[in-house]
Amino acid sequence: MAGKKFTVQSFKSAKVKGERISMLTAYDYTTASLLDEAGVDCLLVGDSLGMVMLGYDDTLRVTMDDMIHHTKAVARGTRHALLIGDMPFLSYHVSTEEAVRNAGRFVQEGGAQAIKLEGGQGIVDKVRAIIKAQIPVLGHLGLTPQSVNAFGGFKLQGKDIETARQIVDDAQLLQDAGVFGIVLECVPDGLARLISERLEIPTIGIGAGVHCDGQVLVIQDLMGMFRKMRPKFVKPYADGGDITVAAVKSYIEELRSGAFPAPEHSFPIDAEVLAKL
Ligand code: KIV
Repeated sequence: MAGKKFTVQSFKSAKVKGERISMLTAYDYTTASLLDEAGVDCLLVGDSLGMVMLGYDDTLRVTMDDMIHHTKAVARGTRHALLIGDMPFLSYHVSTEEAVRNAGRFVQEGGAQAIKLEGGQGIVDKVRAIIKAQIPVLGHLGLTPQSVNAFGGFKLQGKDIETARQIVDDAQLLQDAGVFGIVLECVPDGLARLISERLEIPTIGIGAGVHCDGQVLVIQDLMGMFRKMRPKFVKPYADGGDITVAAVKSYIEELRSGAFPAPEHSFPIDAEVLAKL
């Protein structure tokens, strides 16, 4: 509900009360203020901005500076929602010191209250160090897009017993390390259900079925604005792409015909001033 600030503590109580958590991505001030006004619980400045805002084919070229730039803009439009910054590729892989410093930039420069990073066993030492620096961490398992080359494409994860078990073990490991929630992306719904039932912290699903404790979507997907690709798990709630194209066509038509700007969009000059000119 809009008004009260959603915090990492709210994550815990939402799971206890069985209240589903809503999360959306945002990358700019205007969108963030609208989503916040609508009452979304969490705003994620996702590294998906590389694809939907910058036009790359994946998220791998997104830099820390890109992320901080967009996080600052979203922070200016956010009052109620918990603001989470997404750590981009290579910002937490090289060393623990770099991971903590980069996580800190999201809070200190960007105005985020938490960060998200991808992976389990391989990065859990970084997760522990970031949490030790008092920065809340959201985990991310399953189809972790920064591993797209290792996975050989954007593919469903956890289909066989080995990979499913790895995701279950990683989820437990992340919870034990102290994350306040875990995004489960593109995994079978039964696997997401099992993990959600076993964990004390909330799971946030995207392409992981209805049994997660919350859901996240990319805002351009929800608004039907990103036409380059549409994964099976996306449900557009508006024809934002068609609406935008139609509005711009009307604008072009009206400016060509002279219907826009009309008198109500113009500033009249005083007749005396005009006469003296
Ligand atoms: O970058 C992103 O937007 C994400 C969400 C889709 C979970 O990681």
